[in-house]
Amino acid sequence: MNREKTEQEIREDLRKQFAALYGDAEGVRFFFAPGRVNLIGEHTDYNGGHVFPCALTIGTYAAARKREDDKIRFFSMNGKGNTFTEYRTDDLEPAGKSGWTMYPLGVVWAFAGRGMKLPSGFEMVIYGNIPGGSGLSSSASLEVLTGFVLKSLYGFSVDGVTLAQIGQYSENHYNGMNCGIMDQFASAMGKKDHAIFLDTADLSYTYAPVVLDGMKIVITNSKVKHQLTDSGYNDRRRSCEEALAELQKVVDIRALGDLTPERFEEVKSAIADEDRRRKAKHAVYENARTVRAVEALKEGDIPAFGRLMNESHVSLRDDYDVSCPEVDILAEEAWKIPGVLGARITGGGFGGCTVAIVRNEAVAEYQQTLSRVYRERTGIEAEFYVVDIGDGPREIV
Ligand code: GLA
Repeated sequence: MNREKTEQEIREDLRKQFAALYGDAEGVRFFFAPGRVNLIGEHTDYNGGHVFPCALTIGTYAAARKREDDKIRFFSMNGKGNTFTEYRTDDLEPAGKSGWTMYPLGVVWAFAGRGMKLPSGFEMVIYGNIPGGSGLSSSASLEVLTGFVLKSLYGFSVDGVTLAQIGQYSENHYNGMNCGIMDQFASAMGKKDHAIFLDTADLSYTYAPVVLDGMKIVITNSKVKHQLTDSGYNDRRRSCEEALAELQKVVDIRALGDLTPERFEEVKSAIADEDRRRKAKHAVYENARTVRAVEALKEGDIPAFGRLMNESHVSLRDDYDVSCPEVDILAEEAWKIPGVLGARITGGGFGGCTVAIVRNEAVAEYQQTLSRVYRERTGIEAEFYVVDIGDGPREIV
C-alpha cells in the first residue's frame, strides 16, 4: 500500500468533517467495514457454487450519530461536493434518486423492509480507502458499514450473515446490480488471517487459515474501469440462468454448482447456444477448482493452489469473457516471473485487479517487472498492494 493514514488519523479527519457539516461532533461514533479480495471462485456465487474470499484491512469508515428528527444525511470525504445529501425516513423509495448515496440509503430501505424501520433519522460522514472501481468491493463495504451503523445506533439485533444478506438485497433491488452474496459476506464475516470458504448454495462456511510461509498475496490494480461493468455482469448472470433452465430439462439440479465437470460434459449438449455453454462451463469448472484449491491450501500445497488460480484466469478470460486486455497483461506477465506461484483476475471483472501469490524474495522483482512491462504496453502506472487479511466490521473507539 501507499502510505495510508492511520486509523486514528482517519477518525480525527472524520470527526472534524462531521463537526464542520453538522454543527458539532457531540456523541458521534466511528465505524469501519472492510473491502475484500477473492482468492478463487469467481462468478460462482450466483450459481450455487463455492467462493474463497478474504476481508482486507482497507475499507470504508464512518462517523455517525442519530438525529432527533426524520432527516437522514450523508456526506463522503471521497466525493467532490461540499455539502451533504439529505433524505427523510419516510421517503426511501428508489424512484428519482441517484448517486453513491443510493448504497447506504438502499440499506436503510432494506432494514425497513425487514421490519427495522428507523424511529428517527441519522447523519453520517464516510471515508473509504479502497481504490474506486478496483473490484475490491468498495460498494459492499459501504453497504455492510451502513448496516453495522444502523445496528449499533438503533440497537437492532442483526447478525453478520443477515448484514450480508441485507447488503446484497439492497444492491440487487435498490441499485439494480444483480450481484451474488460473496462481497457482502466477506466484508461482514471477515476474520483476520483467514479466508472464508463459503458454499453459496446454503451459506454454510468455514474459515481457512491462510498460511503462506515465505509468500505474500499481492494485489495489482490495472486502474482500468470499464463502463459496462454492471450490464456485462447482469448479462453473464442471465446467460447462466438460461443455461441452467436448459440443463434442468435433462438433469435434476437446482444450480450449476450442483454439477461436477464430468457430469457437465455428459449433459452440456442440452445448452443450445455455444456461447452460453462456455459460460456454464466456467461456472461448473470454477466451482470444482475452488473446492480443490481449498484442499491444496489445507495440505500446504501452494504450488497447486497457484496453478488453479492460473486456470481460473484462463477460464474467466476465454470462457466467461470478463477479463480485458490490460488485466490479461498483468496476469500473463506475472506467470513469467520466477517466484510467482499464481495470478488471476479477481472480482467481477471488466477491469480492476489481479491477485497473485508471490515468494517474499520475488515481491520487489514482481513489482518492478510488472510496472515496467505494463507501462510500456498500456501507458498506465499499475498499483500494488501487499495484502493483510483483516476482520469484519467494528466500532472504532
Ligand atoms: C462481483 C459480485 C460478486 C461476485 C463477483 C464475481 O464482485 O458482487 O457477487 O459475483 O463479482 O465472482
